[in-house]
Amino acid sequence: MDVIPAAVNAFAEKYTSPENDVLHRLHRETYLKVEQPHMLSGHLQGQLLSMISHMLRPRRILEIGTYTGYSAICLAQGLTTDGLLYTLDINEEREEMCKRYFREAGLEHKIRQQIGTAAGIIPQLNETFDLVFIDADKQGYANYFDLVWEKLRPGGFILADNVLYHGEVLNDPSQQSANAKAMLGFCEKVKADAHAEQVLLTIRDGLLMIRKIR
Ligand SMILES: C[S@@+](CC[C@H](N)C(=O)[O-])C[C@H]1O[C@@H](n2cnc3c(N)ncnc32)[C@H](O)[C@@H]1O
Repeated sequence: MDVIPAAVNAFAEKYTSPENDVLHRLHRETYLKVEQPHMLSGHLQGQLLSMISHMLRPRRILEIGTYTGYSAICLAQGLTTDGLLYTLDINEEREEMCKRYFREAGLEHKIRQQIGTAAGIIPQLNETFDLVFIDADKQGYANYFDLVWEKLRPGGFILADNVLYHGEVLNDPSQQSANAKAMLGFCEKVKADAHAEQVLLTIRDGLLMIRKIR
């Protein structure tokens, strides 16, 4: 189920800057050739991620969940000239496709792809991040939040995708999947954290924007 009515989405897309050529082709190839293409952030959310990145001008970004690289390209667009985006994914099958599009976007020198489990890789990253995008397995979010917290600078941001989980979080608990329950649990955890402030954006499948106060 899409949370946002199709007509509202179409209107929003009409008045949002169009996808550039590389993102457009990446979007198309993903829908033609890759399993589960709905996982790709897409035009509206991609443009929002790019805007946020341009506003923050981050030096270090961590993305958890690369898929075919769409959101990585959007987020990397706002990096400082010496900026780097680390992107992690458990699946190696799409690595070459991502690399090709990172190259075409002229961002290959700014994006470091790592293959493996997020829980295994994050503790090994010796960086302080300005921005983290969590968009991998839903039941891992709470753990990823804990793992990245110490690596996030005070005043830094975490964006967590799919927190509405197709609207299932609004259902009676007996009608919620394990992933929807995990999203609800994650939102409750963040809400209870005195060191964070947050806003839940009802774009696409719900994007929770979290700021580390201290
Ligand atoms: C929703 S997709 C990411 C979409 C991408 N951020 C975008 O907007 O185009 C989720 C990705 O998380 C990856 N993933 C799932 N479990 C993971 C894990 N434990 N560690 C790292 N990546 C994982 C999947 O292989 C999948 O590519």
